[in-house]
Amino acid sequence: MQYKVIAIDGPAGAGKSTIAKLVADKINYTYIDSGAMYRALTLKVLESSMDLQDKEAIIGISEIVDIDFKEKSIYLDGEVVDKQIREERINKNVSYISAIPEVRRNIVQLQRRISQGKNVVMDGRDVGTVIFPNAFLKFFITASLEERAKRRCTEIEDNGTQADLHDIKSQIEKRDYIDTNREDSPLIQAEDAILIDSSGKSIEEVLKEVLTYIASNGGKIDVV
Ligand code: DC
Repeated sequence: MQYKVIAIDGPAGAGKSTIAKLVADKINYTYIDSGAMYRALTLKVLESSMDLQDKEAIIGISEIVDIDFKEKSIYLDGEVVDKQIREERINKNVSYISAIPEVRRNIVQLQRRISQGKNVVMDGRDVGTVIFPNAFLKFFITASLEERAKRRCTEIEDNGTQADLHDIKSQIEKRDYIDTNREDSPLIQAEDAILIDSSGKSIEEVLKEVLTYIASNGGKIDVV
């Protein structure tokens, strides 16, 4: 049996993971959050209290790090770290660590290995360009900076923490800049990706758009 990959790329806060999870459920595929893997690695680096300037040491950790997904949770060295990888200290450092080319090489290998033998919906920045350039279908989901910052604010406030729109906006802008301008696998839309601008659209509307593309693809995937 030939397994399929659906790639969903785009900038931070565009709604990719929400959409990717819903799509995976609808078509009975496994959802893999590729960004969560960089976040888990970042957590391990920070917990090791190493010098963040020591790229060799970070690369060394990326060679041996044990990251896995089970029942919708991410495991780092055998422990669930779903909450820890969303902490502020991770947001602040993940783009720097994920820009190191050798780190990317190791994590991409891991992302491919984890996807083996499954039908997968994977979201990230380079899923359709680098991890799976032959993905069955590719989407690039984006939204205006203003809207992405507002969504992040709501998300943080819904979790019971105060959020400052101005701060969040500049943080997202900074992350966009690093992700888009890094030399190795920058965030770009794959030539054959379907572009969806989610600004002003509800989750349901975007989900419907994605599922329509999937369903119109020769009926090769059953939407349930
Ligand atoms: O999707 P996210 O915000 O959780 O991703 C966290 C960081 O990981 C993001 O700033 C860039 C990096 N990333 C990446 O470089 N390549 C991916 N495929 C996914 C994420």
